[in-house]
Amino acid sequence: MKAAMHELRLLFSEEEIAKRVAELGRQITEDYKEEPIYVCCILKGAFMFTADLIRHIDCPVRVDFIRLASYGSSTSTSGEVKITKDVELPFKDCHVLIVEDIVDTGFTLEFLVNRLKLHEPKSVKICALMDKRARREVEVPVDYIGFSFDDGFVVGYGVDYAEYYRDLPGIYIVENP
Ligand code: IMP
Ligand code: MG
Repeated sequence: MKAAMHELRLLFSEEEIAKRVAELGRQITEDYKEEPIYVCCILKGAFMFTADLIRHIDCPVRVDFIRLASYGSSTSTSGEVKITKDVELPFKDCHVLIVEDIVDTGFTLEFLVNRLKLHEPKSVKICALMDKRARREVEVPVDYIGFSFDDGFVVGYGVDYAEYYRDLPGIYIVENP
């Protein structure tokens, strides 16, 4: 375990993540049947997941990035979302696959799905590494889910606490955030 400033408890190991990400990639490959996919990675949290996931998707893939900021405290969102870096590639009439780290309240994904639909894609699906069910406020249809758990603040595998811990290869619960 790398050096940490908080008490961290392992939730999903590097091996478990690798296995699950490979399964998700296989499932996505089967569902899209060699159709090209426009992957929209939500920065920053999904960068590591996206990098691993696309290596397991056997379809033509283009990758784009969007960065969203949501107002609120450091451990929860408020519902007001804004774009701080927009997508760059065209995707009208394309299959869009949004890749997100965590669905919590659902506000971020609800906002993004509505926003991307303005570009008239052929389809929009969501792949989230983690589904945190306890705090959902708006229902968003998540098509692919890596792991589900009820609550707790997690870090690692791209996911941060105050910008730290993105480098951890496993996923950990922060005991006293
Ligand atoms: P939502 O809009 O409440 O669904 O928030 C989703 C966003 O909040 C995710 O993209 C994460 O960046 C962030 N988030 C939610 N839960 C956690 C967590 O446990 N650790 C780190 N970031 C989180
Ligand atoms: Mg995020």
